[in-house]
Amino acid sequence: NKKITKICCIGAGYVGGPTMAVIAQKCPHIKVTVVDLNEARIAAWNDPNTENIPVYEPGLSEVVAEARGRNLFFSTEVDKAIDEAEMIFISVNTPTKTYGTGKGMAADLKYIELCARQIARVAKDDKIVVEKSTLPVRTAEAVKNILQNTGNGVNYQILSNPEFLAEGTAVEDLHAPDRVLIGGDTTPEGQEALNALVEVYANWVPRERILTTNLWSSELSKLTANAFLAQRVSSINALSELCERTGADVTEVARSIGTDSRIGPKFLKASVGFGGSCFQKDILNLVYIARSYGLKEVADYWEQVIIMNDHQKSRFANNIVKTLYNTVSGKKIAFLGWAFKKDTNDTRESAAIYVADALLNEEAGIAVYDPKVPESQVFFDLDYLGTRSADKNKQLVTNYTDPYEACKDAHAIAILTEWDEFKTYDWQRIFDNMKKPAFLFDGRSIVDSAALTDIGFKVYTIGK
Ligand code: NAD
Ligand code: UDX
Repeated sequence: NKKITKICCIGAGYVGGPTMAVIAQKCPHIKVTVVDLNEARIAAWNDPNTENIPVYEPGLSEVVAEARGRNLFFSTEVDKAIDEAEMIFISVNTPTKTYGTGKGMAADLKYIELCARQIARVAKDDKIVVEKSTLPVRTAEAVKNILQNTGNGVNYQILSNPEFLAEGTAVEDLHAPDRVLIGGDTTPEGQEALNALVEVYANWVPRERILTTNLWSSELSKLTANAFLAQRVSSINALSELCERTGADVTEVARSIGTDSRIGPKFLKASVGFGGSCFQKDILNLVYIARSYGLKEVADYWEQVIIMNDHQKSRFANNIVKTLYNTVSGKKIAFLGWAFKKDTNDTRESAAIYVADALLNEEAGIAVYDPKVPESQVFFDLDYLGTRSADKNKQLVTNYTDPYEACKDAHAIAILTEWDEFKTYDWQRIFDNMKKPAFLFDGRSIVDSAALTDIGFKVYTIGK
C-alpha cells in the first residue's frame, strides 16, 4: 500500500488551514504544504506570533506553533507544492453563484475547476486528488474529466473527503471527529487511493470512525448532513414563534423533546436564525440539484428551511421596531455580537448582518461590539449587501471595542451572538447608562432574563 509522505492543500481558509494544521500535528512524518493565491492570508498564517493567524479558533494557534516549520508550511507557490505532493487536497471556496444560470442557488465551481486545470498542467507523476471543499453530487466526474483530458498523461485518483468541522470548535472536532468520510472509486486503483487516505487519518482517528463509501454517496452526504442540521434549527425556530404566542417556553419544549433519544438534545437552540458560510449555501445547492433532476417536491421541502430562517431574522428585526414604539429612526441600538456564532471571527451570513440591514432601512443608528470581529469586517459585510451607499453605512454604524461604551445611551440592546463574556457583564452598570425604558432583545437566550428584569430591563427572549 502506498504511504503518503507529502501532502499539498490548495486553499488556506477556515477549512484548509485548521484541517492541515491538525494533519501535520498528528502525522510528523508527512510534509504538509498549504497554498493559497491570497498573499496576505499566507503572510498571516506565517506570522511569527501565532496569535495573528487569520482564522480564530480556540486551540488553533497552539497547533500551528507546534507543527509550523517542522512539517507544516504555508506558501503562495502553488505550482511547486502541487508538483511535490503525492496527495492534493482541494479546499477552495464554493460560494453560491452570483451570476448566470443557477444564480443565488447553485454552487459556483469556478475555483474548483481552476484548481483541477492547474493540477493537470503542473503534475508530472501520478496524483491522488482529494475533494475537501463541499461540492454538488457528481462533481468528481467533472474534476476527473478535466484532469484526464488536459493533463500530461499521468494517472489521477479522485477522492471525496468532506469536512464536518464546525467553526468555533474546529480543533476539537478535528482531533476527535464523530467520523471521517472518504468516498472513492470502486475500482482496485480507487480503493488503493482510498486506503492511502484512510492510513493518514488512522494516525489519530479510530478506524471504526473512518467511513468509506462510493464517491457519490460521500459528496451527497455532506450536503445532507448540513441540510439535516439546519433543518433542526429551523424547526425549533418555527416553534419559537408559536411559543411566544401561547405561553409555552421554547427552551422547555427543546429540553422536553431532546431527552427523547430518537430526537437527541443537540441543535435545538432557538435563535435569531442560523448563519455561517455553509448551511444556507449547501441547502440552496441541494434545492438546485433536486430541481435540476425535476424533483419539485424534494426541492420545495428543503427550501422551506431557508424560508423559515429568513423569516426568523426579519421577525427579530421587526419586533425591535415594533417594541420601540414603531420607530427606531435616530435611536441608538447596541449590537452585542456580529460573528455568526461564538468563538469564531467569521461573519459570513451572520444573522447580525441582516438584522442590522433591516434596522438601517429604518434609519436606526447601530453600535456594534464583537470581541473578535474588526470594524473593517462589519462595514465590508454591510456594504456587500448593496442596500445603501458605503457612506450611509459609515454614517449610521459605529463600532466599539468596549461593550459598555457600545451600550451607553442606547435605547435598546440586541444580542446577536452567544459569546460567553456577555453573561459576565455588569448589567446594572449597563442599565444605569441606557435610555429608559431599557430594552434588551436576546436573540440567543443567553442572559438571565429574570435577573435583568429585576434590574429594570424590558427583556424579550426568543421563544418566550
Ligand atoms: P475560505 O474562503 O475561508 O477559504 C478558501 C481559500 O481558497 C481562500 O483563501 C482563497 O483565496 C483560496 N483559493 C480560491 N481559489 C484558489 C486557487 N485557485 N488557488 C489557490 N487558492 C485558492 O473557505 P472555507 O470556509 O475554508 O471553505 C472551503 C470549502 O470547505 C468550501 O467548499 C466550504 O463549503 C467547505 N466547508 C467549510 C466549512 C466551514 O466551516 N467554513 C466546513 C466544512 C466544509
Ligand atoms: C456547520 C456544520 O455544523 C458543520 O458540520 C459543517 O462542517 C459546516 O457547517 P458551522 O456553520 O461552522 O458548522 O457552525 P454550526 O455550529 O453548525 O452553527 C451554524 C449556525 O446555526 C450558527 O449561526 C449557529 O448559531 C446556529 N445554531 C446552531 C442555532 O441557531 N441553534 C442551534 O441549536 C445550533
